[in-house]
Amino acid sequence: MNMRNVSVFGLGYVGLTFAICLASKGFNVIGVDVDKFKIDLISNGKIPFHEPGLNELLDEVLRNGNFRCTDNYWTAITESSISFICVGTPSKPDGSIDLKYVKNVSTDVGTVLKYKDMYHLIVVRSTVTPGTTRNLVRKVVEHLSGKKCGFHFGLCMNPEFLREGSAVHDIFHSDRVIIGEFDSKSGDLLESFYSNFYGSHTPPILRTSLENAELIKYANNAFLAMKISFINELANICEYIGNTDVKVIAKGIGLDHRVNPSFLNAGLGWGGSCFPKDVQALISFAKNLNYDPILLNAVKKVNDLQPYRAVDMAKKLLGKLKNKKIAILGLAFKPGTDDMRNAVSIKIVNRLVEEGARVVVYDPVAMDNARKIFGNNVVYADSSIQCIKGCDCCIIVTEWDEFRYLKPEVFVKYMRFPAVIDGRRIFDPSKFLGRVKYVAIGLGL
Ligand code: UGA
Repeated sequence: MNMRNVSVFGLGYVGLTFAICLASKGFNVIGVDVDKFKIDLISNGKIPFHEPGLNELLDEVLRNGNFRCTDNYWTAITESSISFICVGTPSKPDGSIDLKYVKNVSTDVGTVLKYKDMYHLIVVRSTVTPGTTRNLVRKVVEHLSGKKCGFHFGLCMNPEFLREGSAVHDIFHSDRVIIGEFDSKSGDLLESFYSNFYGSHTPPILRTSLENAELIKYANNAFLAMKISFINELANICEYIGNTDVKVIAKGIGLDHRVNPSFLNAGLGWGGSCFPKDVQALISFAKNLNYDPILLNAVKKVNDLQPYRAVDMAKKLLGKLKNKKIAILGLAFKPGTDDMRNAVSIKIVNRLVEEGARVVVYDPVAMDNARKIFGNNVVYADSSIQCIKGCDCCIIVTEWDEFRYLKPEVFVKYMRFPAVIDGRRIFDPSKFLGRVKYVAIGLGL
């Protein structure tokens, strides 16, 4: 069995990045997706989303023939020895996750394995709640193939920890590899697969049960979300006290190695396709077990309210917002991506529009996505300068580097009333205070 022949199911941001990175290390990778349009796009060297460094790698692996895409799951499974399931697990209206795509791929794998004589390793990389790999994937594959898990085929759960915008870096410089295994043979095979991929740079590998691996993924995202909600709550408290600055508080506690400084940047809240979905899914999962997740609920509640702090600040500065012209700098849920899923900018812009403000928006890469969300409700600017021109207030919503270079004089020159709400703490208060009207998250004046 040649563990260098790999199929990756689901060519979204996780699957495609992973597939291309494997291919760039000489693995022979077949990417599988049901979306023909996407397959054509990728086969022609185009990445359907913004991810730094990925286009160059795609060109390379298409050129050297290590990567190809197809919607033919049959050949993909027969021509590979290991299949990674990387399909999405979107939220259902009640906050629990929809497992239909995981089930579809399990069905494909089970159907083909019925006719495949060789051992095949199945690895779930999609974010799934505890029990899914054992009770859904294993059962579907066993049922359709008539074969036995742990004997004819292997099964692992191997969560991913990629951040959008630095996904390529995160794959090559992973902090750890978590291997949830159905049996030790499956775990041994996946461990040697990763030793092969990382070579002398293999990160620590933790081998455990399928359920632990599934829960580690949720625990990881929920913990990071908790850190941010914690510092955001502290930021809100700071705003009621003179001479305080949440940035200094974060620095002070971050110097304690038990706390660690990362993910303590206070702001307008966390968004994206992962934290909101995963925190909510863990809450729903716990509730279904009849456990009330008090802390997780609070983490979410702080975050639900945090974007509106910017709107409240605008009201304090301007009084009624009706007919006030407000500039929004940054729309993506974080810098380095065009992704606006659950971006806090959506809540802020919608609330401002509801209050009758005239909103002008600008983002270096997310404008196409913004148009789909805001339609004709806002004005779209081509640059940050054009965005702030003639405005009564400017809110920094996403901390893109290009905004950090904006000097107070620029706001004074172009705005009607130079008021800046620093929602991501990108400016030095000592340079802004006294030159423009400056208020910032977590700055107690
Ligand atoms: C997150 C995790 O960081 C990844 O490890 C995980 O693999 C991924 O979810 C996933 O589950 O797929 P991502 O959603 O790309 O990655 O974004 P992060 O960089 O974690 O940022 C999430 C949100 O938190 C953003 O809105 C960001 O602006 C916000 N944030 C982050 C803060 O407000 N403050 C911080 O200090 C850090």
